[in-house]
Amino acid sequence: MSTSPKQSSGSAAAKVSPTGADWQDNLRRLDRLANVGLISASIAHEIKNGLVAIKTYAEVMLERGEDTEMAEIVRRELARIDGLATQMLRLSAPRALSHASVRVHPVLDHCLRLLEHQMNSRMIVLKRDYGAVPDTVRGDESQLQQAFMNLVLNGVEAIGNSGELTVRTEIIPAATGGRRLKISFQDTGPGIAPENVARLFEPFFTTKKNGTGLGLAITRRVAEDHQGNIEAVNAPERGAVFILSLPAE
Ligand SMILES: Nc1ncnc2c1ncn2[C@@H]1O[C@H](COP(=O)(O)OP(=O)(O)OP(=O)(O)O)[C@@H](O)[C@H]1O
Ligand SMILES: [Mg+2]
Repeated sequence: MSTSPKQSSGSAAAKVSPTGADWQDNLRRLDRLANVGLISASIAHEIKNGLVAIKTYAEVMLERGEDTEMAEIVRRELARIDGLATQMLRLSAPRALSHASVRVHPVLDHCLRLLEHQMNSRMIVLKRDYGAVPDTVRGDESQLQQAFMNLVLNGVEAIGNSGELTVRTEIIPAATGGRRLKISFQDTGPGIAPENVARLFEPFFTTKKNGTGLGLAITRRVAEDHQGNIEAVNAPERGAVFILSLPAE
């Protein structure tokens, strides 16, 4: 199954994603993913094991009150590395997907609520345009939440200090029959530079100082696991739109 952008909305949006990745591209991607998967799963596993000992030590230090400030810094950094290793494992390890009926709007609301404070303090106006009726897909709620969260976070990070984030849902007919639930995340950030288009969804591709470059790779994986796809386009005025489309239930 291909997640390359095929759908054309006929809108004025300038398409920046590669058109119809051929099988060679897909093979190359699979090959890369297989390697990355194997390597990162074993590294992540080792890191997590090592962290257990270090974490225990930092906690003992904290309890004894020896240089609490330093111990706190160590603890925070350990938590960050642990989170990173967990993400790496999630990306590479075989996944057990639950297949339940999931209502998309409450999951979106939950993600947006988690970032509400950050958006308010940065003068980011949030717009919801929920048009999908019904808003149900079949799949794994926590994985879908993770995918939405990555897209919302990227939008917020792209916007910077002020701007607009629009989350839109709609039901569209699928080319293969049936219907798809389309979820768009549009921001007013700088948009996607042409030289980065082809690499956005690659694991470890990042242009951010503290980015892991795993967010979009995981999001695409989640989309594929749900028989969906994701594409990125630049909005006509400014900013980027990430469009996730999933089979509607
Ligand atoms: N909304 C967006 N607007 C412009 N560029 C984007 C947007 N979302 C993602 N990108 C580009 O795609 C890159 C990869 O995104 P991805 O989410 O995979 O990793 P990251 O955000 O850099 O790091 P992480 O998600 O691990 O914190 C980003 O570094 C950025 O260059
Ligand atoms: Mg990200």
